[in-house]
Amino acid sequence: MLIAAAVGVLGMVAAVTVSTTPADAAASTLGAAAAQSGRYFGTAIAAGRLGDSNYTTIANREFNMVTPENEMKPDATEPNRGQFNFSSGDRVYNWAVQNGKRVRGHTLAWHGQQPPWMQSLSGSSLRQAMIDHINGVMAHYKGKLYAWDVVNEAFADGNSGGRRDSNLQRTGNDWIEVAFRTARAADPSVKLCYNDYNIENWTWAKTQGVYNMVKDFKSRGVPIDCVGFQSHFNSGSAYNSNFRTTLQNFAALGVDVQITELDIQGASAQTYAAVTNDCLAVPRCNGITVWGVRDQDSWRSGDTPLLFSGNNKKPAYDAVLNALNNAGPGPSNSPSASPSASPSTSPSSSPSASPTRSPLPGGCSATIKTINSWGGGFQSEVTVQAGSSAVNGWTVKWTWPSGQSISSLWNGRQSTSGSSVTVTNESYNGSIAAGGSTTFGFTANGNAATPTATCTSP
Ligand code: G3I
Repeated sequence: MLIAAAVGVLGMVAAVTVSTTPADAAASTLGAAAAQSGRYFGTAIAAGRLGDSNYTTIANREFNMVTPENEMKPDATEPNRGQFNFSSGDRVYNWAVQNGKRVRGHTLAWHGQQPPWMQSLSGSSLRQAMIDHINGVMAHYKGKLYAWDVVNEAFADGNSGGRRDSNLQRTGNDWIEVAFRTARAADPSVKLCYNDYNIENWTWAKTQGVYNMVKDFKSRGVPIDCVGFQSHFNSGSAYNSNFRTTLQNFAALGVDVQITELDIQGASAQTYAAVTNDCLAVPRCNGITVWGVRDQDSWRSGDTPLLFSGNNKKPAYDAVLNALNNAGPGPSNSPSASPSASPSTSPSSSPSASPTRSPLPGGCSATIKTINSWGGGFQSEVTVQAGSSAVNGWTVKWTWPSGQSISSLWNGRQSTSGSSVTVTNESYNGSIAAGGSTTFGFTANGNAATPTATCTSP
């Protein structure tokens, strides 16, 4: 609650700052410039560099989101089975929060940077270790983070479009959804992301593989809130302008999209501007994180892929800042958010869920279904279905029977008054074709319940 309040206050501060800035005044830092359109601009921070004042001066001035570069990975947080160590993670977290920044957690379930004990496990003991790891780490950071990269890099490079072989994959194909369900139950307040590289080019098989997984997760109610596009661009994996199509098509599935580890070999100013504009063009692109502060801090320092060289801003820095300053005032006013031909926008033809009431002509109906439950909480999916006419905007209402309360809700906007819940559509899912449907979901505290819901459309 405290964190939510703090974030709320920060949001207000940001709003005040923007409103007192003359309309044509440009922001002078990346974070402030991104905030003008409701986005963030972040960087990876390495705990080992926090003693370097040149580094912290730039990092503190320019960025308002932080990803620990290595400090929240499995080898760092659970060096021995069942023994958690958050000393380095907390160093980065505390530096970020004490300087007014938010934090993306990176990462919980990954084939890389596993501690030796985890590398040697397989089968059901590894599966259990993964679940225990997610629970242990998320409990420590519960309510404190903006997002978690729950699963990292689970798809194979190349043309298969399938999963990467790993000890986690060999525990069974459902390991990713188990990770996400575990994560939602462990901390319903944080956005849950799938994060990968080489999924920026819409024509690549790996991109399609991840897209199909997210589509499947959304259709089955597996909790996923966001997809992170690492965006390590280089000669072998070059930027392509269809990245915008990729971001649009994933967003149309009902997830947020984030650029999570951006670096570009040679740091072309033009390419940095193009990537920035791609994010700005997609309302659900929440923000951009570059993978390090200065070239010398990069995991690929020989590629000079970042925005600073020593204390100096590179041409790419100016290109990004200008692009951010040229954006409209809010995500919904961002430039050229052209509609994408996404399969998810086609209406569902399967009215399989039995509505609690027959849809009136021009009206809509809503059905609540329990997806998952655990001691003290549950997850539900609500299907909103249009009647014989198309719906343009909807409102779903219900009353909790016995003290339940929503902890996190996605694909809708919630307002609650006592036991009465009202949910209205987001900008992207208000329009439903005649006979079609859309869904939103939530997690809640209390005993699982499926009260009768009403649906109205203007
Ligand atoms: O801390 C030890 C140090 O004690 C030792 O002397 C030294 C000798 O090699 O290694 C140091 O650890 C290194 C660590 O970075 C901290 O600098 C590891 O060897 C090195 O492998 C590790 O590299 C990290 C890499 O992930 C490992 O997969 C990079 O810093 C980090 O930037 C990189 O980040 C990944 C993302 O998590 C996922 N996406 C790709 C991205 C780039 O590879």
